[in-house]
Amino acid sequence: MAPLVWLITGCTSGIGLALVNGILARGDKVIATGRNITTRLAHLKDAPSSDSLALLDLDVTDPLSTVQSTVTQAVSIFGCIDVLVNNAGKSKLSSIEEASEDAVRSIFDVNLFGAIKTTQAVLPHMRAAKKGTVVFIGAGLGWVSMPFLTHYSLTKASLTMFAEGLQKEIGPLGLRSVIFEPGGFAETRLAESREGDPFGAPPQIEDYLPLFGKVFGGKSLADSIPGDIAKLPDAIIDVVKGEGLAKGRPFPLRVLLGSDTLDAVRQKINEQTQLIDTWEDVTLSVVKEGRRETGPWLLKNCSILKN
Ligand SMILES: NC(=O)c1ccc[n+]([C@@H]2O[C@H](COP(=O)([O-])OP(=O)(O)OC[C@H]3O[C@@H](n4cnc5c(N)ncnc54)[C@H](OP(=O)(O)O)[C@@H]3O)[C@@H](O)[C@H]2O)c1
Repeated sequence: MAPLVWLITGCTSGIGLALVNGILARGDKVIATGRNITTRLAHLKDAPSSDSLALLDLDVTDPLSTVQSTVTQAVSIFGCIDVLVNNAGKSKLSSIEEASEDAVRSIFDVNLFGAIKTTQAVLPHMRAAKKGTVVFIGAGLGWVSMPFLTHYSLTKASLTMFAEGLQKEIGPLGLRSVIFEPGGFAETRLAESREGDPFGAPPQIEDYLPLFGKVFGGKSLADSIPGDIAKLPDAIIDVVKGEGLAKGRPFPLRVLLGSDTLDAVRQKINEQTQLIDTWEDVTLSVVKEGRRETGPWLLKNCSILKN
């Protein structure tokens, strides 16, 4: 397979940076973007594989027109973008009651609206090339909500619906969308504050402290996280390129990454099925007489496997 050109957001640390190195090691080309990345990661241009690497400053909260200009500049570097990875993300620790409006808006601005804008900016180039893959880094917490991380879960659940809707729209054009939903990976800065942008804090309202203690107290979070970030890039690259474990399989819309997310999501699906079954009579009690059948058109358009 010819080398692919990847554009990745949020490459200054963690999963984004690991992906950049993993992709270069596999012989592909990368346009690594991030806030002030050209200064912060200038040393990467000294590496032997630096001909395959370009650095571009990109804050995904900038207006769409700015993101579009950066993407146009990116396309001119290697001639195309084969794969966009919407990786830039942030997390916030707060009770729902205490979350500031600014904090809630800012997490949506990066995790959801940033990915929407970058995707909008890249799509015209991929449509013109009649090929391309849009990758999203979602999270296991897009399936399940954790107390005090609810807004993070909200953004990731929304991102999943976006990836799903996108696949339905661009699949017929020969383009693809996939969302990876990792569990915990400790070797990143996701739970760190940035200058002027705190990660968050335990609740100030005393009523919430017992629950906070039960959820986060008494254990080292890093020790309880099974994900190995050194293995993450190859899993993502294999799925995108149809290599390794992904060879010969149909391209997926959603892929879980990590044993913690696998077990939590399985539990959620089983519990959700139980709820659906238990309450089916109430669900069906609102249906018009004689209108129980659901048309194949609706089921096909709602399917994540049949489109
Ligand atoms: N680590 C995990 O356990 C885990 C689990 C599931 C999903 N994820 C997802 O993985 C992705 C990467 O996170 P990570 O764990 O690698 O954390 P990380 O080390 O904090 O990386 C986050 C990256 O996003 C960048 N970013 C934040 N705001 C940005 C903005 N406005 N514009 C451009 N870039 C911005 C950060 O840049 P700065 O350095 O400038 O802040 C950083 O490069 C996120 O989407 C996260 O939700 C992580």
